[in-house]
Amino acid sequence: MQFPAKVKLVDVGPRDGLQNEKEPVPAEVKIRLVHMLQDAGLTEIEVTSFVSPKWVPQMADNAQVMAGIERKPGVRYSVLTPNMKGLEAALASKPDEIVVFGAASEAFSQRNINCSITESIERFAPVVELARANGIFVRGALSTAVACPYEGEIAPERVEMVARLMKGIGVQHLGVADTIGAGTPRKVQRAMEAVLKHYGINDVSGHFHDTYGQALANTLACLEMGVWQYDASCAGLGGCPYAKGATGNVATEDVVYLLHGMDIDTGIDLDKLIDAGKYISDHLGRKPNSRAATAILNKRAG
Ligand code: HMG
Ligand code: MG
Repeated sequence: MQFPAKVKLVDVGPRDGLQNEKEPVPAEVKIRLVHMLQDAGLTEIEVTSFVSPKWVPQMADNAQVMAGIERKPGVRYSVLTPNMKGLEAALASKPDEIVVFGAASEAFSQRNINCSITESIERFAPVVELARANGIFVRGALSTAVACPYEGEIAPERVEMVARLMKGIGVQHLGVADTIGAGTPRKVQRAMEAVLKHYGINDVSGHFHDTYGQALANTLACLEMGVWQYDASCAGLGGCPYAKGATGNVATEDVVYLLHGMDIDTGIDLDKLIDAGKYISDHLGRKPNSRAATAILNKRAG
């Protein structure tokens, strides 16, 4: 079996990780987290989202956080933009990449971005066009690609349809998101195969929440397919406020431990990454939700 020799991880902790936190996390804590992640060797960080502060109050400090980051050469800083208003606000912050986020399920599209799948594509089209005209890379996230909290299992045909629409409006990369972490390897592979009908292997990624403890297995299943880009969240933070019952993303620490153990290069210093995860977990008053981080922190303490 041929696994990729190198994997790129996008830490989505500052965005996906924190968006679900009820207590406001100060901008300076978010900025410090981004600095610690880039010091650990992450080459892409999903910093924040330019969404409605009424919908996601935790991300209301988006511009402040973006302005406070000391950018490191070679690191890409991405932000979520659901519509033109979000992109216009984001442009001043000069992101390297924006993320338009759609869904394979109608019910989730309605709950998360208040419109149908068709309407979302119509909304994204000018956003994609303006971003690309400004030299900003456009990534898409395809939520509920395996299962939906409202509709149940999602057929790969639906995933393929939305991937085709995303491709049609110029979205350059598509992330397959298991929003509620209900997927298992074969199902996730089928969702990935559906996206690969429209996107090349270098233009897809996996975004796996770990609600049912399957995210590492799902990552391995996609590694087998040659997929070499994944989102993960330090300390396993995360969850979508509009996906009931969904918990955090797979912990970046756990994915790095897996990959390094398979001699797959990530460019990430696991010890420094654990420090970043511990920093934000201490701030939130809990332990990192990562088995690898827990094991290594116990070892350090002993
Ligand atoms: P809407 O209410 O339909 O929007 O929300 P609207 O255009 O009717 O505007 C209503 C109000 O919102 C207006 O303000 C707008 O100005 C304002 P008012 O006149 O009432 O004062 N508004 C905005 N303000 C700031 N930034 C904006 C913006 N747009 C409108 N961009 C909208 C539609 C998409 C804005 C809303 O539904 C929303 O913000 N949704 C975001 C939900 C979200 O952030 N979810 C989590 C991220 S996605 C995720 O976690 C999944 C992912 O991780 C992958 C996975 O795991 O599946 C990516
Ligand atoms: Mg997510």
